[in-house]
Amino acid sequence: MAETNVISICGSLRKGSFNRILARALPALAPAGMRITEAPSFADFPIYNADLQNEKGFPAPVTALADAVRAADGVIIVTPEYNFSMPGGLKNALDWVSRIKDQPFKEKPVALQSAAPGPVGGARVQYHLRQTLVFLDAMTFTRPEIFVAHCASKLDEARGITDEATRNFVTSQLEAFAAFIARHGQKH
Ligand SMILES: Cc1cc2nc3c(=O)[nH]c(=O)nc-3n(C[C@H](O)[C@H](O)[C@H](O)COP(=O)(O)O)c2cc1C
Repeated sequence: MAETNVISICGSLRKGSFNRILARALPALAPAGMRITEAPSFADFPIYNADLQNEKGFPAPVTALADAVRAADGVIIVTPEYNFSMPGGLKNALDWVSRIKDQPFKEKPVALQSAAPGPVGGARVQYHLRQTLVFLDAMTFTRPEIFVAHCASKLDEARGITDEATRNFVTSQLEAFAAFIARHGQKH
C-alpha cells in the first residue's frame, strides 16, 4: 500500500512554542505507513488583502503551502487558542489558501490538536477552526479530540511529549486518522 503523506501546520510562530513541540512529536508516533512532515511556514504571508491578490497574484509562500496541502493525503493543524479563537496568523494563512483555484482544502481530511498551559487545552479554538473548515469543504476528523491542557508539564523542547497518557491519546488519534483517510481520502 502507498505511504500516507500527512502534513502538520502549527498555528504558533513562537520560538519554543508548545504546539510546535507537539507537532514535532507526531512523526515518531505515526502508525506504520503514515509519514508526517511539517508544512511550509506561513510566517511570511502578508495580511490578506484582495487588492494585493488581484494586483500581484499569490505570494510564493502562499503557493508553497497550498501546494503542500493539495499534495497531502491529510493535514493536522496543531494550534494554540488566542482569545478563545484562532491565532490571527493561522486564520490569515487559511484565508489566503482558500482563495486559490481548486481550493486545496476541499474534501481534504483534516485533524485538529491544541495545547495550552491552561486547563481547557484549546477546546474553543478547535470549534472555531471546525467552523472555518466547513466553509473550506474540508473533511474534518471528529474523535478522539486532542486537547493538551496544562501543557507546560507535558511538553518539553528537548524531550517532546513527556506525559505518557498524552503520548497514548495522540497515538490513538493518529491511528484513527489513518483509518479515516483510508476510508474517505482520495489520492491526488
Ligand atoms: C494573544 C494571546 C491570547 C491568548 N488567549 C488564550 C486563550 O483564549 N485560551 C488559552 O487557553 N490560552 C490563551 N493564551 C495563552 C496561550 O495558550 C499560551 O501563550 C500558549 O503557550 C501559546 O501556544 P504556543 O506555546 O504554542 O505558542 C493566549 C496567548 C496569547 C499570546
